[in-house]
Amino acid sequence: MSVVQTTRRGEVTLRDLSKSFRLNGQPLQVLRNLSLDIRGGEALAIVGPSGCGKTTLLRVLAGLEAPDRGEVLIDGHPVEGVGTERAIIFQEPRLLPWLTVLGNVSFGLQVRGYTAIEAETRARHYIRLVGLADVETAYPRQLSGGMAQRVGIARALTVQPEILLLDEPLGALDAMTKLTMQEELARIWREEKVTMVLVTHDLEEAIYLADRVLVMPKGTGSPPLLIDIDLPRPRERNEAQFVALRRRLMAQFGLH
Ligand SMILES: Nc1ncnc2c1ncn2[C@@H]1O[C@H](COP(=O)(O)OP(=O)(O)OP(=O)(O)O)[C@@H](O)[C@H]1O
Ligand SMILES: [Mg+2]
Repeated sequence: MSVVQTTRRGEVTLRDLSKSFRLNGQPLQVLRNLSLDIRGGEALAIVGPSGCGKTTLLRVLAGLEAPDRGEVLIDGHPVEGVGTERAIIFQEPRLLPWLTVLGNVSFGLQVRGYTAIEAETRARHYIRLVGLADVETAYPRQLSGGMAQRVGIARALTVQPEILLLDEPLGALDAMTKLTMQEELARIWREEKVTMVLVTHDLEEAIYLADRVLVMPKGTGSPPLLIDIDLPRPRERNEAQFVALRRRLMAQFGLH
């Protein structure tokens, strides 16, 4: 009997996830019975008020945090701990200051046993992809915030993850750089065909990048809401449907 492979790589299933912490001696439930299917190659944005559990959810997906109940499946297999098919990018790129751009991007590959030549060849491919070929010999202190974050993205991509987990990756950037980087992320997602799970405070960023937006409420009293972003790409921020979706999302947070 042959088994037909119908799932695309990078498919994520959250099954009945619950997670609590103890805070000031009190139990604090952060995730409650959360179930969600993320399609292989999908871009999912997660938005919600500060403290609602976005980072916790991303850390559970990354395998950095274990859920109390429920499970995460990647391509049908339960995850236990971190794995090379998932890469996480934080708000700060956390580069090694004593290594150049090329050194930072190729470091992870060398640790994984690639020869220096192989590691640098592959690293250069991703440095070009994020538009930093001109500065591969620069050190982190010589880079702008946007450039440093691009190095972080290149570094995450070198290990060719199926799933890219991003926790407010553009949150620390100025408004102009942020817009450019959103376009870059859209292009990288399209070219690399990775599943992208993006936590963001920026509702416009969520609509610009995502296929669906998961709106997490404050507290676990009501379930999260999923909103389809059914807009053609590349997206146009001033287009009527885009504006209408932004209004709808803002209304979810009582904003006008
Ligand atoms: N290790 C921990 N121990 C105790 N409480 C924690 C821990 N990690 C997170 N929390 C609590 O869980 C809640 C959710 O935190 P989380 O960092 O997931 O929120 P968030 O949605 O990412 O917020 P923000 O938008 O501010 O980044 C918060 O109330 C936080 O205090
Ligand atoms: Mg957070």
